[in-house]
Amino acid sequence: MAPSSREASISLQEQLTETVEIMQKTITRLLPETDLPEAPLFEAMRYGSLNGGKRLRPFLVIQSAKLFNVDPKRSRRVAAALEFVHCYSLMHDDLPAMDNADTRRGKPAAHKAFDEATAILAGDALLTLAFEILADSDTHEDPRVRVDLVAALAQASGGHGLCGGQMLDLIGERSSFDLGTISRLQRMKTGKLMSFACEAGAILGKAGEPQRKALLNYANDLGLAFQVTDDILDVESNVTALGKDTGKDQQAGKSTFVSTMGKEQARARAEMLAAQAKRHLAIFEGRAEMLEDLADYVLKRRA
Ligand code: IPE
Ligand code: IPE
Ligand code: MG
Ligand code: MG
Ligand code: MG
Repeated sequence: MAPSSREASISLQEQLTETVEIMQKTITRLLPETDLPEAPLFEAMRYGSLNGGKRLRPFLVIQSAKLFNVDPKRSRRVAAALEFVHCYSLMHDDLPAMDNADTRRGKPAAHKAFDEATAILAGDALLTLAFEILADSDTHEDPRVRVDLVAALAQASGGHGLCGGQMLDLIGERSSFDLGTISRLQRMKTGKLMSFACEAGAILGKAGEPQRKALLNYANDLGLAFQVTDDILDVESNVTALGKDTGKDQQAGKSTFVSTMGKEQARARAEMLAAQAKRHLAIFEGRAEMLEDLADYVLKRRA
C-alpha cells in the first residue's frame, strides 16, 4: 500500500535529520582540529561548515546515489565535498564586498566571528579541500569516476556556474534584468550545485544516460524553485526564524523573481517548477520518493 502523505513527510523529515547527523560526523572527520600555528584558518573552516545548515545538497547526493546502490561511504564523502563548496560560497556571499550580512545559520557570519581576511582564506581552503576529497581513491577506486566528479564540480562552481551566477547577482543590483536573465543567474548561482549533487549520484553509480538526464532535469527545476523560495523568504521572514539577514535583496536593489513579478506570482512560479521537477523522476518508477518529497519541502520550508 502506498504510504499516506503524512507518513511520507515524516520519513522525509527523518531522512533530513539523519543527513544532518551524518554530515556533522563526516565533516568533523574530514576537517579535524589542529594546533598548527595557522590554526585560526582551520577554526574558521570548521566554523563555516559545522555551524548548522539544512544539508540539502548532501541529502540530494546521498539520495540520488542510493538509486544506484552506491556504497554510502562514497556518497558521504562526495556529499561533504559539495557541502564544503556550498559553505565557502556562503562565507564569501556574506562578506561586506558582497551581501554584507551579519548572521548566518543563526550565528555571526564568519567574517564577524573571525575577520574578513580569515573568512576569505577559510572559504578558499574549503573550496580546494572539496577537490582534494574527490581526487582521493577513498572516494572511488575508479580514477575515471573521480575525474568525472572533479570536472563536474569544477564546472558547477566556476565561471559558468556559481561564481558566474554570483557575478550576475551583483550586476543585477545596478541593472534591472528581464525574467530570462534572472532565471539564468539563479540557475547558475544556486541551481548548478544542486545539479552537481544529483549528477554525482549518477556518476558514482555509473548510471545510464536517461537516468542521469532525468536527475539533472529534476535538479535544474528544483534549484530554481529553491532560489525563488529563498527570495520570497528574504521579504517575508526575519532573522530569528530564518537564521540569516533578511530584507537584503530589496535593500541592495537586486533583480529577483520577487522584485520582477511580485511575491504571489513568484510563489506560483516556484510551485510550477517543483511540480515539473517531480515529473522528471517518473523514470525511477516510485523509487525516488524522497527526492519527490523534497520538491514539496523546498516550497514549504520556513528556514
Ligand atoms: C542558502 O542555501 C544559499 C542559497 C543558495 C539560497 P541554504 O538555504 O541551503 O542554506 P543552508 O545550508 O541550509 O544554511
Ligand atoms: C546566494 O544567494 C547563493 C550563493 C551562491 C551563496 P543569496 O545571497 O540569496 O543567499 P542567502 O540568502 O544569503 O543565503
Ligand atoms: Mg548573495
Ligand atoms: Mg546573501
Ligand atoms: Mg537570499
